[in-house]
Amino acid sequence: MILYFSATGNTRFAAERIAARLGDELVSLNDVLKNDEPLRFSSQKPFVIAAPIYAWRLPMRIEKLINDAEFCGNKKIYIIATMGAFAGAADEYCRRIINEKGLEYMGFCALRMPDNYTVSYKMPPKEKAIEIIRKAVPDIDRAADVIVSGGSFERKKNGIGSAVLSGLTRIANAGFNRFMVDKGGFAVSDKCTGCGMCSRLCPVNNIDIQSGKAVFGRECMFCLACLHGCPVHAIDYKGKAKKNGYYRCPNSSEIL
Ligand SMILES: Cc1cc2nc3c(=O)[nH]c(=O)nc-3n(C[C@H](O)[C@H](O)[C@H](O)COP(=O)(O)O)c2cc1C
Ligand code: SF4
Ligand code: SF4
Repeated sequence: MILYFSATGNTRFAAERIAARLGDELVSLNDVLKNDEPLRFSSQKPFVIAAPIYAWRLPMRIEKLINDAEFCGNKKIYIIATMGAFAGAADEYCRRIINEKGLEYMGFCALRMPDNYTVSYKMPPKEKAIEIIRKAVPDIDRAADVIVSGGSFERKKNGIGSAVLSGLTRIANAGFNRFMVDKGGFAVSDKCTGCGMCSRLCPVNNIDIQSGKAVFGRECMFCLACLHGCPVHAIDYKGKAKKNGYYRCPNSSEIL
């Protein structure tokens, strides 16, 4: 069973490709979160959890979901992460959570994809994004082959000692959670048509449409699905998207 969370489509692309190669079931964790579905997953095949990296770890809500969920049947769990450049100590945090649940941690595979963090980086033009994703395809396929073989993902060395990396990750992640998550800061311009797309995309139901305009609450995991998914680019975060642009993973037909 492949369980994936994706805000702008990179992880969904990887998860769909792995599911197709494995001939296995695909479950959207966006839907699980949005609909407050029971956290009980059952499969005779290994579990594969795919998610983006946020501030050097998996998104907190996804770590919590893994921690809280009941996984029945197969004991093996593989983690696939998509990222712009660096996954910090995400591997170690996943290992800890999964080992504590008494499940078998089969390793962590980080895939380099276009970075959608428009708060800090310029969004790549479509051709560049396609080029980056095409380069990731062989890595996605290799990951799928390891899962089919029943082996573990190879543990990557990163040149920094694991204690140092864990410490730096704790600091980077705490800053992100303190200043971004649940803090608001999104602005909706007059371009908003009240179409409701942002509200439908929000995995934690943080957006209402009131008097024909999107209104944000304070339950935000800062995934940026709303900002990047608005068809008229009416959502910005402190002027950053206006400067750095918007991103959606191109369609599979454009990539392959
Ligand atoms: C809030 C946030 C934080 C991010 N932090 C990191 C990071 O620490 N390291 C990194 O390499 N990429 C980071 N990224 C980039 C995403 O991990 C990357 O673009 C991912 O492929 C997005 O997946 P999605 O399209 O499935 O949502 C961040 C993106 C967001 C929205
Ligand atoms: S997706 Fe954009 S246009 Fe549609 S309601 Fe949200 S902000 Fe407004
Ligand atoms: S409000 Fe936007 S950024 Fe926040 S969780 Fe919802 S979709 Fe993600």
